[in-house]
Amino acid sequence: MEKITINVDVSQYKNETELNQEDQKVLEASLKAAKNAYAPYSGFFVGAAVLLENGEIVTGTNQENAAYPSGLCAERVAIFYANSKYPDVALKTIAICAYHNGQFTKSPTPPCGSCRQVMIEAETRFEKPIKVIMYGQDKILVVDNIKSLLPIAFSF
Ligand code: THU
Repeated sequence: MEKITINVDVSQYKNETELNQEDQKVLEASLKAAKNAYAPYSGFFVGAAVLLENGEIVTGTNQENAAYPSGLCAERVAIFYANSKYPDVALKTIAICAYHNGQFTKSPTPPCGSCRQVMIEAETRFEKPIKVIMYGQDKILVVDNIKSLLPIAFSF
């Protein structure tokens, strides 16, 4: 038996102004998108914005449903939309935020496991790392690739 250690680099920022201009733009798009979420059941309004290699930013929000499992997270809405509109264009960055109880959450919103799986597919498919910006009012976490969020990923 051998023990292996997996290290993950995470950058922590105090606020939006510490981010570079490009990342600020993607984050802003996600903050703006969040208000369009359809989340009558959870009241948790998630916004996601994807910056593509062609410079375009596409956004997505969580879409809930009375039949709960039929709903979809903001990240997957944004990524599937991006891949549908531009099937040959790599994803560069995704920003995620959530609005709850009248304000943006204090702590960052990391993507759920299913969204990480979809994100790693996009990263692998285009052979380009996707940066993830997870917004919280108190701090912003950034990882440079999805592999950092899903280190031992399924593939075949
Ligand atoms: N949600 C997202 O949109 N993204 C995530 O990464 C986690 C959760 C949504 C799903 C549901 O509509 C609400 O947040 C509460 O779980």
